[in-house]
Amino acid sequence: MNNFIFQNATKVYFGQGCVKEYLSCLTKPYSTVMLAYGGGSIKRSGIYDEVMGILSAAGKQVVEFPGIMANPTYRKVQEGARLAREKGVEMILGVGGGSVMDCCKAVSLAARYDGDVWEDFWARSGVIDFEPLPLGVIVTVAGTGSECNGGAVITNEEKKVKTGRDYPRLNPAFALMDPVYTYTVPAGQMVSGSFDILSHIMETYFSEPNEDNVSDDIMEALMRSVIRNLRAAIRDPRDYTARSNLMWDSTMAENRVIKMGKKCDFECHNMEHQLGAYTDCNHGQGLAVLHPVYYRHIYREGLPKFVRFAENVWGIPRDGKTGEELALAGIDALAAFIREIGLPTTLKELGAKKEQLAEIAGSCGISAGSYRRMTREEILEIFQECYE
Ligand code: NZQ
Ligand code: ZN
Repeated sequence: MNNFIFQNATKVYFGQGCVKEYLSCLTKPYSTVMLAYGGGSIKRSGIYDEVMGILSAAGKQVVEFPGIMANPTYRKVQEGARLAREKGVEMILGVGGGSVMDCCKAVSLAARYDGDVWEDFWARSGVIDFEPLPLGVIVTVAGTGSECNGGAVITNEEKKVKTGRDYPRLNPAFALMDPVYTYTVPAGQMVSGSFDILSHIMETYFSEPNEDNVSDDIMEALMRSVIRNLRAAIRDPRDYTARSNLMWDSTMAENRVIKMGKKCDFECHNMEHQLGAYTDCNHGQGLAVLHPVYYRHIYREGLPKFVRFAENVWGIPRDGKTGEELALAGIDALAAFIREIGLPTTLKELGAKKEQLAEIAGSCGISAGSYRRMTREEILEIFQECYE
């Protein structure tokens, strides 16, 4: 196993009723709270009323910061930071999914920083030597695992770059996770968020080292859990057990636990982020299109792991198959699952234009942790193969 340091500063309160039980106590030290949220789902679901009721009863001054869009932009971060400064916000409470949580992390930094946070913390890796605004989150959709890490993926529209950095100091101080809050997530978003979970696990699993290590064992269990529980949640969106498992799978995939001792790939994420920067496509959908095609490009370099994936995740029997045949059967099983759960399989469906592909490929980050380092030419080939 590779050497590592492990830390996770977020305190998680998980389960039905957790917001009612703990929110008041968690916000006690602060009098002015910024309530940040997305496009309005929390108003329709009743979550907004519940949260506002608790904050009002506790006598908080609430500053609302609504309208955080999917794929949050740097402009929105700047708007939030301005508002936080103007209103003397003492803590941020983000209520939503990855987009809200990521935007709030960037706002918590920008509100306490005089320079340009994009240039100093996203365009390149920076050092946070000051206290960002305290941040707590209430998760309403499972997927990114943003509640338990310092990662924030921001889109700079002018520069056509969507990129993420993980700063441990941006870990939320607390995360409230009530699986019932996810019942209202539209089926398509539940599926794409769940594929994002699976992708985070696969992007970590398919990387060195291949020797026996506990992270790979944990990941196989997590992948089986995502597949099983997503099928259950599709059958019954109000299946509490399934929703709970998906919600915790999502945290487990991105709270750094499974990354210990692993190199991590995330080339599909690099590619998807740039597709998102150009097309504003849904994150999980973009990943679903790319994964099987990318894996058919690299499986030979990671053959033992692709064989394990086929056997231990998809339960494919050896039955005299060669390693290569088994590996390909595992990738085929992944592709069949993507079709089964109704995710798109072509970039065309995501709204990408054929003539854009070369430019998008040219802008993608190249992962140092993949089984085989991509070139921009090969990324373009992958884009072309999954175009239609
Ligand atoms: O905006 P509202 O109206 O709230 O609706 C949202 C949004 O339309 C809706 N939704 C959320 N909770 C709901 C609900 N609808 C009904 N009931 C509920 N309870 O779901 C839609 C998608 O929300 P969003 O937050 O955009 O989705 P997700 O959690 O998938 O986040 C995606 C963003 O996170 C980034 C992605 O790139 C993308 O920008 N990522 C962040 C990561 C991290 N910080 O660690 C890692 C990921 O790999 C990812 O890159
Ligand atoms: Zn992701």
